[in-house]
Amino acid sequence: MSKIQKIKGFADLFPKQSAVFSFLEETAKRVFGQYSFSELRTPILEKTELFTKGIGEDTDVVGKEMFTFPDKKGRMLTLRPEATAGVVRAYVEANEYQPGKISRYFTFGAMFRYERPQKGRQRQFHQLNAEMFGTAAPQADAEIIFMLTQFLHEIGLEKLTVELNSLGCTECRPKYKESLIKYYREKDFDKLCEDCQRRSDTNPLRVLDCKNPTCQEIVKDAPKVTEHICVDCAEHFKVVCSLLDEAGVEYVLNPRLVRGLDYYQRTTFEISSQDIGSQTAVAGGGRYDGLVKQLGGADVAGIGFACGMERLALLLGEKEPAPRDFFIAVTDELAINTAQIIALKLRRMGYSGEASYTSASMKSALRYADKLSVKNVLILGADEFAKKSVSIKSMHKEKAQETVLIETFLGAAKDYL
Ligand code: HAM
Repeated sequence: MSKIQKIKGFADLFPKQSAVFSFLEETAKRVFGQYSFSELRTPILEKTELFTKGIGEDTDVVGKEMFTFPDKKGRMLTLRPEATAGVVRAYVEANEYQPGKISRYFTFGAMFRYERPQKGRQRQFHQLNAEMFGTAAPQADAEIIFMLTQFLHEIGLEKLTVELNSLGCTECRPKYKESLIKYYREKDFDKLCEDCQRRSDTNPLRVLDCKNPTCQEIVKDAPKVTEHICVDCAEHFKVVCSLLDEAGVEYVLNPRLVRGLDYYQRTTFEISSQDIGSQTAVAGGGRYDGLVKQLGGADVAGIGFACGMERLALLLGEKEPAPRDFFIAVTDELAINTAQIIALKLRRMGYSGEASYTSASMKSALRYADKLSVKNVLILGADEFAKKSVSIKSMHKEKAQETVLIETFLGAAKDYL
């Protein structure tokens, strides 16, 4: 029979890879918790319109990359390509908004984008995501970047670049858009790719984000957003930058950083590494003050970011899972049940490990234990069985093997393990 293979761009994460993912999640939970964020879990599947409305029809994510299909009743559903839209929907649906209240959530999990798979780019990938609602204060922008950079520092990543930009607001963006449209018209409009020719009038910022090399060449001299933002946006951005300066967070200003999703306003940022091939962005985010209202909620400000876990894992490498406390090797058939009962009692005390279901020679039992990565091997052979005892061999410490009564061992397990 032919083997069933996993879907292209989807991956299985075996223990050495999962251990890195767990480490990332545990560290993120701790660091995000220090900033008063709490966990929110939203569904993986949402109505398609949530993403078309929330992320924008002209984006690559919505236009080309969504896993969308009808359910049995013909309703269009989409596997979430990112977490922000779902978190906003949940926030609005649960009426979480109250004037003056600030809500902070983090959410971890699988996202889906129908992209061409390559190193650091999967069709199913995982994000560590954080969102904050209820304040437009620039201090919140700086704080969210503090949280992200502290997290990246604590997982051990140092050689990263923080890029920063401001995209302006509903007041100043229209004027910037006009100057972009004028620029494209005067420049080589005909050479823009088909997508960009179509969206250059309606959504000219997307052209700045296009990956087509000709489009990239054309936008090189395009007007810069930072030259067009209004006084309020400029003041907002200045406070963000000065707080980052004061905190010693290094960053590079990049007026081309428009991000691939339509909901951003004002501060945007991206963090990248040169050590993972062509897919360099490990995290990205920004402010999205109009999104909650756009998705049916109050006119409440929001800001957040997401880290790509696969890309962080590429930078960190694989991790050996923590060794177990014991393996019970059985070298006499009669001791197989006793081994299970000892294992059960040890687990009830909080120790981890396993017991053999079969009897084997001492040599092969030790070889097996070696592969398992355990701290101690407990041996139950004919001698031990006859004397109701167990032999304990430490695999890590320089300690002589000792044989004690099972009762004595279980009564003081912490002295032996
Ligand atoms: P994004 O920049 O689209 O932002 O994705 C964030 C991160 O997810 C990227 O920097 C990258 O590390 C990772 N990522 C994206 N696509 C893939 C892929 N196909 N394979 C592997 N990793 C990938 C967002 O998703 C926004 N929702 C972030 C945000 C939250 N903005 C505000 N709040």
